[in-house]
Amino acid sequence: MLNIVLFGPPGAGKGTQAQRMMDATGLPQVSTGDMLRAAVKAQTSVGLEAKKYMDAGALVPDQVIIDLIKDRMKEGDAQDGVMFDGFPRTVPQAEALAKIVDVSIVLAIDVPDERIVERICGRFSCGNCGAVYHDSFNPLPKLGCTCGAFSEKRRADDTESTVVARLKAYHEQTAPLATFYEDAGLFTVVDGDRDIDLITTDLLNALN
Ligand code: AP5
Repeated sequence: MLNIVLFGPPGAGKGTQAQRMMDATGLPQVSTGDMLRAAVKAQTSVGLEAKKYMDAGALVPDQVIIDLIKDRMKEGDAQDGVMFDGFPRTVPQAEALAKIVDVSIVLAIDVPDERIVERICGRFSCGNCGAVYHDSFNPLPKLGCTCGAFSEKRRADDTESTVVARLKAYHEQTAPLATFYEDAGLFTVVDGDRDIDLITTDLLNALN
């Protein structure tokens, strides 16, 4: 069983790389951001609670996230391992995860802060299949999205002011997790300020 944690600041490319690595590893992507956005859209009690934090660029309370993950890990497709994207994001979340599954490796995508705003503010995705694109760095192919049914979607929290808050939350609450996983001998860093294909190659090599 392989449980991978994709770690890094907002806009580092965790979602982009998770989608590429799904084919190579056969593991499902477990993105707490996607799960929360689905809950917001469905107007569930979790979604209504989470929305105010997400709109402000703050982290959603740990217990809300831990409960979501506990439920997700009971699903059939999670039994042979998963690829966590955007989770854990605090030491209490990592401690809770350790009680649910053994983490095999943490792949940290390292991108300097000055790159993050341009990445996030140019992001869009396909509303049909979820593929992630960028106005300049990863444009929609001339023939359209590979799913054949492209519809453009932009995230409500992809604004310059929210990115500043999300970066602050990352440095204050999430970055300390690096030490947690370094101490456990699980932390591998990949330079994320490069071509998307090169990063995928390095991440897959790290798994081998
Ligand atoms: P979440 O959805 O997890 O957002 P995030 O961590 O802020 O990360 P992003 O999805 O913004 O970035 P990414 O690293 O996936 O980058 P991407 O591949 O899209 O969380 C949203 C909110 O939910 C949080 O703020 C919080 O409120 C809440 N939340 C979620 N999980 C939580 C948790 N565990 N605990 C508490 N709260 C939680 O790439 C970005 C752009 O760059 C794209 O346009 C892409 O095409 C482009 N790009 C990718 N790679 C490259 C490259 N190498 N070069 C150039 N461009 C690139």
